[in-house]
Amino acid sequence: MNILITGAGRGLGVDLATAALERGHSVIAGVRQYPAEQTEISQLAADSGGRMTIVRLDVTDEDGIAALAADLKDAGRTLGVIINNAAVLNGTDTLLEELDIEEMRTAMDINLYGPMRVVKHFLPLLTEPGASIINVSSEAGSITNAYPGSFPYTISKTALNMFSQKLHVTLQERGIHVLSVHPGWMFTDMGGAAAPTNPRTSADGILQLIEQRTMPEGRFMFVDYTGKDMEI
Ligand SMILES: NC(=O)c1ccc[n+]([C@@H]2O[C@H](COP(=O)([O-])OP(=O)(O)OC[C@H]3O[C@@H](n4cnc5c(N)ncnc54)[C@H](OP(=O)(O)O)[C@@H]3O)[C@@H](O)[C@H]2O)c1
Repeated sequence: MNILITGAGRGLGVDLATAALERGHSVIAGVRQYPAEQTEISQLAADSGGRMTIVRLDVTDEDGIAALAADLKDAGRTLGVIINNAAVLNGTDTLLEELDIEEMRTAMDINLYGPMRVVKHFLPLLTEPGASIINVSSEAGSITNAYPGSFPYTISKTALNMFSQKLHVTLQERGIHVLSVHPGWMFTDMGGAAAPTNPRTSADGILQLIEQRTMPEGRFMFVDYTGKDMEI
């Protein structure tokens, strides 16, 4: 399958690209800044035997996303999977009394509207059999397990889970499999060095969910990277 991955330049995104290539898929790796030659993602593309293309993809830039989708369509490219992985964790320590609505806007713009823009413009390319949309979410978005503080990130991921549920009911007749996936607390720039989960383990789990078209046991399309239902 051809797999589009956003935020592929570092963290889980690099491991998703690596795991996808190892499993025989082709990858369109979206990065906000085009990488310098020596980066991990450039090396991965160079070693991929032409199965990985790096593209500039800032999820806040709707014109850029539209132009990229049009270029890929003109080049005859199709997709089997869209993985909305790019996100930002901001304003975690901001007190409620000092809540900065700009921080809210940033989180919503990247973590929610980003996936919405990407799906809007890439859906016409998602024509391969067994197609999936994976929104990389977080346990932080669970309403059931809400915790104090960190308003921007948590609320943006709750809204992302709603987007996944809406996509599921909108696209199930077309046979498109949709999941919100909590990737675990991973040792990336976002998760920090103390995190217990290797992002590569999470990436392999997510690829398995895609290949097996894993469905949650319950009503909500929110699972962790092992396929276990998460609480909405
Ligand atoms: N790490 C964890 O413990 C954890 C836990 C739960 C959920 N998650 C979720 O897992 C996913 C991956 O997280 P991570 O740990 O790999 O994060 P990370 O190490 O901070 O990497 C974030 C990625 O998103 C990209 N990005 C940010 N803003 C962007 C934009 N406007 N357009 C395009 N790309 C953008 C970054 O690109 P630049 O290099 O250009 O900034 C980077 O590639 C996220 O959705 C995150 O919310 C992570």
